[in-house]
Amino acid sequence: MNTWFQDWFSSEEYLEVYNHRDEEDAEKLLTLILKNTSVNTSSKILDAACGAGRHSIYLLEKGHYVVGFDLSRTLLKKAKVEALKRNVKLDLFCSDLRNVSLKKKFDLILNLFTSFGYFESDKENFAFPIASYKLLNRDGFYVLDYLNREFIIRTLIPQSEKDVNGKKIIELRKIDQERIVKEIIINNKDNERSFYESVKLYKKDKIITEFEKIGFKLNKLFGDYDGSEFDINNSSRLIMFFKK
Ligand SMILES: C[S@@+](CC[C@H](N)C(=O)[O-])C[C@H]1O[C@@H](n2cnc3c(N)ncnc32)[C@H](O)[C@@H]1O
Repeated sequence: MNTWFQDWFSSEEYLEVYNHRDEEDAEKLLTLILKNTSVNTSSKILDAACGAGRHSIYLLEKGHYVVGFDLSRTLLKKAKVEALKRNVKLDLFCSDLRNVSLKKKFDLILNLFTSFGYFESDKENFAFPIASYKLLNRDGFYVLDYLNREFIIRTLIPQSEKDVNGKKIIELRKIDQERIVKEIIINNKDNERSFYESVKLYKKDKIITEFEKIGFKLNKLFGDYDGSEFDINNSSRLIMFFKK
């Protein structure tokens, strides 16, 4: 049986439901990242769980060297097509975050837009940060753009509806066993399908402790893509810059 993340990220509707997570959104976050790391055009960047490649392609267009990987062949195909269209050379491969095998080393590893906390155990969720430490050059950065647990709990909207490309999308959200669980019901004329998301709600301090155990040092912390200071009650995001 497939996991929720295999089904959902292989669907055509994932990109439709998150159509606000577009190039502009990618540019905003990457502007913050480039300003707060020491990467230049000779640096090597790894975009982990790169999806359809919106961050990778922006960086390539700025002259950076980027390798991206993802589990979803559907999204990798979209990334490949877009890179070709834009005439940039994107190195892509298909891999699970839990067992990435690479010979190259990197100066910056990106884990963006809540591509963390999908698995059941801490061992699985922190497997990629552990692998990343070895994949980074000295002084390299690992940027984790994750949800803010406290903000999610405080502002949870149990149900919402929207229309996207003529489809009715119903999103049902709940907190269950320290996870944010979302059911996404897609109603397209007479056809109804459901997908799920289930992301572990890690506390900020737990993530820092686990990263420090690996050897990382927390270098910077922001609460949104504009670079606002992190505020545990009010920040929509938890954006962590770890340094090797
Ligand atoms: C919320 S999306 C973010 C995609 C991309 N970083 C972005 O910002 O557009 C999460 C991504 O994680 C990928 N993913 C999910 N489970 C994965 C796994 N076990 N290993 C590798 N990638 C995975 C999905 O296919 C999807 O592209």
